[in-house]
Amino acid sequence: MGDPVLRTPAQEVERFDEDLRALVRDMFETMHEAEGIGLAAPQVGVSRRVLVVDLRRDEEPDARVALVNPTVTWRSKDTDKQPEGCLSIPGLEEVIERACTVRIEGYDPEGHPVELEADELYARVLQHEVDHLDGILFPDRVTPLKRRMLMKKWKKLRAEAAASAK
Ligand code: NI
Repeated sequence: MGDPVLRTPAQEVERFDEDLRALVRDMFETMHEAEGIGLAAPQVGVSRRVLVVDLRRDEEPDARVALVNPTVTWRSKDTDKQPEGCLSIPGLEEVIERACTVRIEGYDPEGHPVELEADELYARVLQHEVDHLDGILFPDRVTPLKRRMLMKKWKKLRAEAAASAK
């Protein structure tokens, strides 16, 4: 957090080429190394509409996907509140309200259209990653008071990290 690329709406992908597939491989690798369950291209400094999710550790065998130019086409009215974190804001966590179920349309890295419906954790991670593509971070989704508390904690964590790096 603090890098402008995270606050910039990402560009639509126009070419489904080897560069795109290399980016996707790189993102899966980065996500697995960080032990994350989702990652969006702006988090690796690339302002393009690409996200990856892998929940296989959590015993959801089908919940591994790379999506290009994804759009949420439907959100359930039912919502759920669960704690969320983000690899770009290490150390912070907050309860975020999200739709329980979503439908998403987009493309796979080869350019084939993809349509999927996700619920529970899968739906939550997808909504979080699509937010990244629009320059939205999870602290934007809480009340102003909670956001101020999160930012305070973030500053403290940064100061501690800077101090221990000296
Ligand atoms: Ni995130």
